[in-house]
Order: sequence, then C-alpha cells, then structure tokens
Amino acid sequence: MCGIVGCVNGSSVLPVLVDGLKRMEYRGYDSAGVALLRADRSTVIKRAGKLVELAAALDESKPTGAAGIGHSRWATHGPPTEVNAHPHVASWAGGSIALVHNGIIENYAELKAGLLTQGRTFLSETDTEVLAHLIAVARSEGKDLLEAVRTVLTQVRGTFALAILDSTEPGRMIGARRGSPLIVGVANDAIYLASDQTAILGHTDQLVFLDDDEIVDCRSGTYTVIDFEASVQRHEVHRSELQLEEIQKSGFPHFLLKEIHAQPEAVRDILRGRLILEDGISHLGGLDTIMPFLPWLDGIDTVACGTSYYAGLVGSYLLERMTELPVHVAFASEFRYRSPVVAKGTLGMVISQSGETADTLAALRELKRRGNHPQEQRRRGGGNPVIGLVNVVGSSIAREVDGGVYLHAGPEISVASTKAFTAQVIAQLLVGLQIGRNRRLPITEGQHIVRALHALPDQIQRILDRSADIEAIADRVAGYDHVMFLGRDALYPVALEGALKLKEVSYIQAEAHAAGEMKHGPIALTGPDLLTIYLCPKNDLYEKARSNLQEVKARGGTLVIVGTEGDTSLREFSDDVVGIPAEAPIWTQPILVNVWLQLLAYYAAVKRGTDVDQPRNLAKSVTVE
Ligand code: F6R
Repeated sequence: MCGIVGCVNGSSVLPVLVDGLKRMEYRGYDSAGVALLRADRSTVIKRAGKLVELAAALDESKPTGAAGIGHSRWATHGPPTEVNAHPHVASWAGGSIALVHNGIIENYAELKAGLLTQGRTFLSETDTEVLAHLIAVARSEGKDLLEAVRTVLTQVRGTFALAILDSTEPGRMIGARRGSPLIVGVANDAIYLASDQTAILGHTDQLVFLDDDEIVDCRSGTYTVIDFEASVQRHEVHRSELQLEEIQKSGFPHFLLKEIHAQPEAVRDILRGRLILEDGISHLGGLDTIMPFLPWLDGIDTVACGTSYYAGLVGSYLLERMTELPVHVAFASEFRYRSPVVAKGTLGMVISQSGETADTLAALRELKRRGNHPQEQRRRGGGNPVIGLVNVVGSSIAREVDGGVYLHAGPEISVASTKAFTAQVIAQLLVGLQIGRNRRLPITEGQHIVRALHALPDQIQRILDRSADIEAIADRVAGYDHVMFLGRDALYPVALEGALKLKEVSYIQAEAHAAGEMKHGPIALTGPDLLTIYLCPKNDLYEKARSNLQEVKARGGTLVIVGTEGDTSLREFSDDVVGIPAEAPIWTQPILVNVWLQLLAYYAAVKRGTDVDQPRNLAKSVTVE
C-alpha cells in the first residue's frame, strides 16, 4: 500500500526521503515521488514504476531543501502514471502547495466540481489533487497554512494520512490523519512524518502516534498537535523497539524465507512470560480489563481478512473445544456491510498483523456499535468487549480495542504473511486457555496445551531443518497450473491458507476444500492436470482422511501429503510425503502443517521465478477498501 515519509530538519532532507521510500518498498507500490519546496526553487520529481527510476532522476538534479515529503503510490484512482504519482501540487498567488496522501477522498468528485467552477485546472485523475487545490484556495483567502489545512479537512469525507508543504514556508511541514496511519518521529533537530515506522528507523526511535482527526504542525525539532476544532492535543512519546536488523534480509535470499525461519524465535517471544504450567493457564496482562466480563461470556465473534481470517478459522475449531463457546468467524469485509447480529455477551476478537487493515478496522467499529446492548450496559456498565490480536504496536486497531494480545512476531516485511499466522493461532490458544480454564477446561488438558506450546519452537525448527525435502517436492509442484488443498477439522482452514500462500507467491491457481466435501463436487476436478495436497497427520479423523486419499488415488489423482513423521503407510498413496513431529497434539498440528505449506509455497515461487517478496498486484497492509 502507499507509503509516506516526510522530514523537516533545517538542512538537507533528500537522503532521508530516499532512504524512507526504499524501506517502504516492501509494502508494494507502482510509482513514487518527492517534493522539496523552497521560496527560490521548488522541486517535485515523480516517476512511474520502481524506485530506481526516481532515485536516478534525483541523482541527476540533487534537489536541496529544509523540508521535504516523499510518497510511494499503489494506484487506486487513476493508473500508475507519472502524472498520477504523488506529490500533487497546486499554486496560489503567493506560492505553491505540495501534498502526499494515503487513503481515499470519497467526496472528491463534488469537491473537484466546485474547484473547476473557480477556474482551477487539474492535471491528474487522482482524488488527492483536490486537497492540494483546496488548501491553495484557502491560502489565497489569507488563511495561515495550519488553519488552511484544518478548514479544508473538515469538508472532506473519506480516509487520509497527509504530509503537506508550502513553498512560502520552507521550514514547515504539516501532517494530518483520519483512518490511515501517520506517525510523528521526534529528534532534537528534526521532525519526521511516516506512515510506517520502518521509513524513519535509524533517524529516531521517539514516536508519537497521531489519532484520527488530528493535525501536526512540524518545524525543525518542534511540533504541535491540534484536533479539527483547533484545540491543542498532548501525546505520549513512545520509544520504538524496532531494530534495523529486523528489517534487513540478514543473509536470506528473500524476506519470506527469513520470516518463515524466524518462527521458532517468534513463538518463544509470544509465549514469553505468558504460560503457567502449574495451573494449565495463560497470563495475559492485556486481558485484565475484560476479566470481569468472562463469567458472562456466551460466545466469540472473530473478524479478520486474508491470512488473519484463516488464522481465526483455525482458532474457531480450537477455541470451541477449549471454551465450549460458539465461535463465529467472519471476513471483516463482509461483516462490516451485512448487518451482522452481535448477540449480548459475546467477546469480539479482531485479528490483524498490521493493525491497519481498513476493512478490519471498520469491522471492529461495527462490532463495538452492535455489541453496545443497552441492558448489558446497565448490568455491567459497558457493551460487549472487543479484543485485538495484533502485531504492530500502537497501530489503529491496537489502540481502538478494549484489550488484547500483542503477537510479538517482529516486523513482517514480505507481503505474504507467514510468522504472523503462527502467532495469531498461538494468541488464540492463549486466549482459549484463559477463558477455558475459567470455565470447564480441565487443568490436565490446560497443562497438556501449555506443554504443547512450549515444545513448538523446537518442533518448527525440526521442520525447517528438513527444508530440502519440501524443496524437492516444490520443484514438481511448480510444474502444475492447478492445485487443490484438502484438510479436515482445524486443518481445513490450514488448507485454505496453504492455497492462499501458494497462489499469492507462485501464481499457481490453487483452491482448498474441507476434505469431507470433496465428493460433493470438487472431486470432479481430479485428474492428471490437478495436483492434490492432502493434510493428513495422525489425529481422530485420520482413518476418514485415508479414505479420502483412496478416493483421489482411485481417480488417477497425484498427491503430495503432509502427514506425521514415521507414518510410512502414507507412501501407499504418494512418494511425496513429509511429516510433522509425531508428539504434536491437535492443538499445535495446524501450525506445524502450515510451516510445511509455507516452505512449499516459497520454493515453488522461487522455482517459477516470481517476485517472491512483492508478488504482483499485492500490497502489504491494505489501508483502503
Ligand atoms: C496474505 C496476506 C493478507 C493479509 C490480510 C490481512 O499473505 O498477507 O491476506 O493477511 O491483508 O492483513 P492484516 O493481518 O494486516 O490485517
């Protein structure tokens, strides 16, 4: 998704902008640009395509300035051309405004119509350009820059994170946000704006997270935050924990492989200090605020998108067993518009790696609105609580939930999500232990789950150490154009996630089904052109799974099987068999099986020569609808 970086430091900001844009490349983009405005010489340089094009142009002209803004664009309104790239510029009698924008201006057409009648001319097809013109108009009416931005933004519907410059005030930069992240980086002699903290890492670790409908007025080393009513707002300055090493490949050929291999450590990090073996329970400080609610709990409503949604589906199987509560999981993009019934006494659970996914954020707000039952309000003094399972600290979702569990998976740079999925399933097991043990989950079962979680990092490592096995299989998988994943119970959503990962990074058409549903339709596809990947570790449904394998085999289907280590009987169906550690119980099997599928997708993509870390058309952190 689009990225913003801005800096005012009184000297030369160009290296900060170029560095910041490079660091945000992982988010996906199709054009980029920078603006450095000075009273005597303003420079705006934009290029379609990859950043190397822009960097070459900047190398040639070497613009200087005390304040500058940069942007990488993922096209929404208008194709990814140079003219549609940001910054957008509009002039007024005294000078010019340059502006970069993440988000969508919903009423841009009506705003544009008004500006056209005033004789303003537009160069681009973007919704963003109207903002530059509106601010320019307000400036020509004599408003101070900050006041001009504030009055304009009160007319705007939609979402935005903005960084704005005015050529008449070369040492000043304005930022604003609504529904799209914007962080202020604070240093002694410089202030930074960024939509993603990786962009300013190395320049400062002192961060201020703006809230919606806030504007920040930045000058070298000082800043002021106001709301849309012009009242000054105070914010805590947070210290970022992010290390430069975490956003580098560290010897791996791709971030995707690095992140798959980071999982043993990521699991240790999410579990650290959170398990109590003696009581078979978890300790989650982030759930303290909702503890009084637990005795009344009647169900769980989960919302998420993509991989996070599949993690939620895996969790639903596990949580129902642990808590004996009904768990409903919905795509956030569906939930927000379908008039969902949120019953009294349910716990809302929002799952997101980035904490900024627009649909998930909207679904969270809908969960809160619809869970705000007046009788419950009277009984307990609040509506249904909503918790977040979120990776990015300080993100919008993390800040809007009533409590939650941080995933501590570290930054996920590869567009395709891997370690976050693992952490999301674990976070649900931790929540399940907390709720379950306060209900009817026996201590012995709780202890069993705690032990299974403690054993997980080494078990994942065992799989990673055998990557060569799956690499050889992936070489064959890469030769297919159609792949079907099958699994039962909690391994059905793992099949869905396996198919998503494979199609995302290798572009092989992949679909997934609950294995028991195969004979109700999908088996019609079985034949020499279709590869079936069957998830078949030893568990209660193992015998049924073997019958499904027979059915595929009998129809001439080719199989790859993820089973259990040492289960040689699966060789009857395929030569391509890998296995998860035999001691892993049902609680952690989905995670282990999924690690094999992540490796399979990775190696198939490498074999097919795709852009593994930035697959075509995809963006990290989908902050627009
Ligand atoms: C798939 C993937 C996406 C995200 C989805 C939700 O590999 O990365 O499907 O899982 O866009 O993103 P978050 O978890 O950031 O809300």
